[in-house]
Amino acid sequence: MYCKRIAVRDFRNIERAEISFCEGVNILAGENAQGKTNLLEAIFYASVGRSFRSAFTSQMIRFGCECADISLDFRDRKRDQNIHVRIFQEKQRLVEKNGIRAERLSDIMGSFRAVLFCPEHLSIIKDGPSGRRGYMDMAISRMYPLYIHSLQKYNHILKQRNALLKNALADRRSFDDTIELWSMQLAHEAAVISQMRLEFIRRAEVYISKFFSEMTGNNEIPKVIYHGSSSQSEEEYADKTKTEERYMSLLMSSHEREIYAGATLWGIHKDDIDISLNGKSARIFASQGQQRSLALAMKLAEGEICREEFGDYPVFLFDDVLSELDSTRRDYLINRMEDKQVIITTCEPDALRSLMNGVKIKVESGRYEQVGSDILPRT
Ligand SMILES: Nc1ncnc2c1ncn2[C@@H]1O[C@H](COP(=O)(O)OP(=O)(O)O)[C@@H](O)[C@H]1O
Ligand SMILES: [Mg+2]
Repeated sequence: MYCKRIAVRDFRNIERAEISFCEGVNILAGENAQGKTNLLEAIFYASVGRSFRSAFTSQMIRFGCECADISLDFRDRKRDQNIHVRIFQEKQRLVEKNGIRAERLSDIMGSFRAVLFCPEHLSIIKDGPSGRRGYMDMAISRMYPLYIHSLQKYNHILKQRNALLKNALADRRSFDDTIELWSMQLAHEAAVISQMRLEFIRRAEVYISKFFSEMTGNNEIPKVIYHGSSSQSEEEYADKTKTEERYMSLLMSSHEREIYAGATLWGIHKDDIDISLNGKSARIFASQGQQRSLALAMKLAEGEICREEFGDYPVFLFDDVLSELDSTRRDYLINRMEDKQVIITTCEPDALRSLMNGVKIKVESGRYEQVGSDILPRT
């Protein structure tokens, strides 16, 4: 996947910009608050139809403007394509792929594939399980629309079941009448999702180990294991029927506790990934440098699986991560990504100097100027 060019209008602090990228490494450098992340946000938006920063689409429209406009030219394995999105106030959007209007955002989602890595992603290792679930959801959704469908269904059922639990003291009758049905449906979706998460983590682990050892050069090997809330073994999670039965029995086993909590206590909304180094939890025992390498290795692994699945690499977007990394890992990102396209933002001018081959772009007040172009984009 190659992001050739992006044209942006009235998006955040970008009034108007047209930027061409090369197939290798592209560095956007500039002081704080100049529009580096804003540009990555626009690229990311063309990939998944939402921001990685704010839930409110209208915040992305430049202050005082009616609408924002993003047009992204890219090439996948087969051909040149274009994604065009126009964002209006009041949540409306216009989406076009190759000049043809798409009814729903999901019709274009996944055409242009990108993997994002930003400082917040360090929380995948350091913090609670929700970041790790987000990591799996993002990666698996990109590959399987069925997964998104299951996840949406699951969340809907979970909401209903939680409402029933909260209301149980006031209306025990309807609780007794319907809890089994909601539990069955929830257990069914939970089994589908668990199996896909397990499969993804098994595939990712191989790459995570590889990247981690390339980056750190030491012989500690990370272990990455899917940890579902029903505490089954990997073999059991691989068997959908067994998982469904197990969840069903958990969901039917402690109604009083659940009523007391007013929430569903078992299910994939409680899942986690166990990440360890030499048998010790990485969250608790790994050094900061190791945690950073792990988070980065997990993102690179996401890219590898995407390549296995679609035949080409996604575009890697690295927002402001260089300052968090030591020189070995920095060099890895800048000079060793080989056949991958990378777009990196940084406020360190040094990064521009250490780039051997690639496009360097200076960012100032929402304007982007290519400096010292070593490689011009191939067309
Ligand atoms: N909707 C908007 N309209 C105009 N400017 C915006 C909007 N949203 C954010 N900004 C501005 O964008 C700037 C931040 O840009 P950003 O890309 O995050 O900076 P950085 O270069 O540090 O990554 C801030 O000055 C902020 O005020
Ligand atoms: Mg930024």
